[in-house]
Amino acid sequence: MPINKFIPTNLSIKEINGTISWSSPSNIALVKYWGKKENQIPENQSISFTLDACKTITKLTYSKREKNKENFSFQVFLDRVHKPDFEPKITTFFTRIEQYLPFLKEFYFKIETENTFPHSSGIASSASGMSALALCLMSIEKELNPEITEEDFIKKASFLARLGSGSACRSLEGDLVVWGKHDDIEGSSDLFGVKYPYKVHENFKNYQDTILLVDKGEKQVSSTVGHGLMHGHPFAQERFKQADENITKIKAILESGDLDAFIALVESEALTLHAMMMTSMPYFILMKPNTLEIINKIWSFRKETGLHISFTLDAGANVHILYPENETKAIIEFIKTELVAYCQNGHYICDRIGFGAKQL
Ligand code: PMV
Repeated sequence: MPINKFIPTNLSIKEINGTISWSSPSNIALVKYWGKKENQIPENQSISFTLDACKTITKLTYSKREKNKENFSFQVFLDRVHKPDFEPKITTFFTRIEQYLPFLKEFYFKIETENTFPHSSGIASSASGMSALALCLMSIEKELNPEITEEDFIKKASFLARLGSGSACRSLEGDLVVWGKHDDIEGSSDLFGVKYPYKVHENFKNYQDTILLVDKGEKQVSSTVGHGLMHGHPFAQERFKQADENITKIKAILESGDLDAFIALVESEALTLHAMMMTSMPYFILMKPNTLEIINKIWSFRKETGLHISFTLDAGANVHILYPENETKAIIEFIKTELVAYCQNGHYICDRIGFGAKQL
């Protein structure tokens, strides 16, 4: 799809003002995006489970400005507290998306946002936050152009969210979303996420994700820097090829319901992501000793019980424990008795597959 399709041609900038609210969830990648080209184009395809409980709620109040329209005009509030330090990030986002939303400088925006998970939990709020904001802005476009279809609305919201934070383009719908053009996924694109269009086995319905908060500190390495280190990385091309193949493999796994194959693919993806960080220059390790303790405990427990518990990781030390719904009781018991001790202040979050963003 040509990128120009996202530049509106028939918007009439009306004298409107109002308030719009969206909630949008976080997501957890099964095949990981790591490495990007210019303009937030991914080097490889990724697929994620949309989450349910971990989300951002954003309220956007907008009013038409009369004068001084050379710059963006907005304020950001997190949990009702004014956050001027968030504003440069939003200015960068607005600058990137202005050509697609030419009305941005015509309005003053009050952006009020809150997360259902604690800010300093080590859970990135960029996917849920950027997708919620993109949806609020699309609601204004829809007010200016009510003709826009539901399908184009979501596509463009995902396109805009991607320009805020790559993985944010996978948060709008559920329960599985693919981002990145892939020959085996019809409709897939580098420009936006698409709802996974094929049959998914019952085994993956309501799949659970319990997030163990191992380290709630700020990330040592921003994802922007991390993606950048894939340029000139000695294993980059092989890794991109592997991700492409893993999308093909996971498609077959999702259809057949083969949980053992799912576990092997997802854990390998998580460790490969971290292996890329450990083998870049400069190199870094984002896992903590407790991350490894948890992984080893999961492996022993799986061996002993035959249950289908597995883990995945983001670009940080926290561990996402994935398991089918019908094994919840035994696995939660195991988490409480064996794993909570490795979490910072004993904190963990019970989440599960979700179905995407909602207008409130
Ligand atoms: O969306 P970004 O630029 O913060 O990158 C996120 C990358 C990973 O979370 C590590 C993997 C992924 O696909 O979500």
